[in-house]
Amino acid sequence: LGSSGGGTLDTGFLPVSPNTADAVTVPAGHSSDVVIRWGDPVIPGGPAFDFENQSAAAQAVQYGFNCDLAVLFPMDDRDERFLLTVNHEYTTEPMMFRGYDSAAPTREQVEIAWAAHGMTVVELASRPSDGGLDPVMGSYNRRITATTPFELRGPAVGALTRTTADPTGTRVLGTLNNCAGGHTPWGTVLSGEENFNQYFGTTGSVTDPARVEALRRYGVSVGESGRKWERFDSRFDLAVEPHEVNRFGYVVEVDPWNPDSTPVKHSALGRFKHEGGTVHVTADGTVVIYSGDDERFDYLYKFISSRTIVPGRTPAAREQNMRILDEGTLYVATFTGNSPASEIDGSGALPSDGAFDGTGAWIPLLTVDSAGNAVSHVPGMSAEEVAVYTRMAGDAVGATKMDRPEDVEPSPTTGKVYMALTNNTRRTVGQVDEANPRHDNKHGQVVEITDDHAGTTFGWNLLLVCGDPAAADTYFGGFDKSKVSPISCPDNVAFDPAGGLWVSTDGNALGFNDGLYSVATEGPNRGETKLFLTVPVGAETCGPLVFSDRAIVNVQHPGEKDGSSIENPASHWPDGGTSQPRPSTVVAWKDGFTGGTGSLSGGS
Ligand code: FEO
Ligand code: CA
Ligand code: CA
Ligand code: CA
Repeated sequence: LGSSGGGTLDTGFLPVSPNTADAVTVPAGHSSDVVIRWGDPVIPGGPAFDFENQSAAAQAVQYGFNCDLAVLFPMDDRDERFLLTVNHEYTTEPMMFRGYDSAAPTREQVEIAWAAHGMTVVELASRPSDGGLDPVMGSYNRRITATTPFELRGPAVGALTRTTADPTGTRVLGTLNNCAGGHTPWGTVLSGEENFNQYFGTTGSVTDPARVEALRRYGVSVGESGRKWERFDSRFDLAVEPHEVNRFGYVVEVDPWNPDSTPVKHSALGRFKHEGGTVHVTADGTVVIYSGDDERFDYLYKFISSRTIVPGRTPAAREQNMRILDEGTLYVATFTGNSPASEIDGSGALPSDGAFDGTGAWIPLLTVDSAGNAVSHVPGMSAEEVAVYTRMAGDAVGATKMDRPEDVEPSPTTGKVYMALTNNTRRTVGQVDEANPRHDNKHGQVVEITDDHAGTTFGWNLLLVCGDPAAADTYFGGFDKSKVSPISCPDNVAFDPAGGLWVSTDGNALGFNDGLYSVATEGPNRGETKLFLTVPVGAETCGPLVFSDRAIVNVQHPGEKDGSSIENPASHWPDGGTSQPRPSTVVAWKDGFTGGTGSLSGGS
């Protein structure tokens, strides 16, 4: 794997021991540092963070809460300068505000939460003294929040997306619960709106059975929401604005090179709890986007564009390429095992052919043609309905119910697609299949897919069945399980420039902190997991980016743990002492590395 040269971040490191330290831990011979924290200013003139005196106005120009996706583009015109784009998935008010009363949040607290959601674009500079990266108050810096205008495009636009404030159904305020994502070859960022259900509620009544069922399928409860946002803006009130909820749950595209640009929500890619959106480009320039729906028993999707890429990263090329996701076909996946069903008993024991594997098919749901006409492939549903109620379209065509499809990403070197299925403790013995072979699945699995990218068939196998390597129900690609790092709840997937796979975890059910692992996919070590980095207590390891010389992770929700409170937080990372925990972006590097032209290119 790793390439040669001093300071190169390769997979020859000595794995980190599983631990519960309230720290970021990296292997011997490596270092790490915080790049930017929740509340640090990102817009020139923005105020310094003051935990005890927060305001919505300050938060709107500061780094948001709970950083998740990270995308880094090198800046063409300046060596050792990079543009970082991150998602700020959600807020945890009881850990943000002293004296927070969940039954009666104040308007200021709610408006701070709106400003702490969304995304940040911030310029970074290599630190000359070591491998660190420091924020720069650059001209591209931008905050996108729950109130930033977006353009909603595609077949969802219509009667189901019109609201009182927006009779066109095309102009949406904000993006919410942006989880994983990806980047495009034309220099934009794709960001998945995930658990948007939690932001909507009502004390009024919603009685139409079809509407109640559609809300239920998306996990939206008819009743007061936990955050009570509907008290402060009626668009979050399901009884007052029935369609606002239909304007969230999309793949969002942001052009970080134009701070004045209006980001786009692409409804041709469907509406569900998009974990992300990652890109594979075929030889003829067709763009294929993969996206999982992170819910127990939900589906894997892909979109195949009918337009092809206009080369280059000029503003004109980007403008045209930002139309690529408007035209094409959306598919949902079925997985079929090749072993007899009687050999898949729910225990995790391998079937007699020695592998959880089989074939799959992509079932078309929705096509948008070059004239912009949308056609449904689902009997009984219009194109508009498929775009808005995509989960129900997947139900109707019999898609395979997976163990929470988290990040899914194609390898830049082999084209094989890797999907993290994080866990599913609700799967029963009667519900197992070869792709989801364990009941009460606490630890998840990683699927390797050999896809006919622009076609409709694929092969698949489980690369990892995660958990305690000493347990009989785990599988590490056939590698010697006594030599691997234990891994549980795989969530995010990334590739280094050499095509090496990296997987990070969320909610490790083995009793130690989450982390980032290298995973061998080829050769005699296939299935070997090596723990490279662990995050502090209660945190999730998000947005991993692994480059030839450095790795970046977003440390999300440090201190979020049962029994943790603002008076006695489970973590004091990163500021230490008695401080409150702050979600932050971290960079790690091999000791001796001090930057160099062309570094940080090629990661995904
Ligand atoms: Fe936001 Fe599915 O993790
Ligand atoms: Ca098999
Ligand atoms: Ca995730
Ligand atoms: Ca990823």
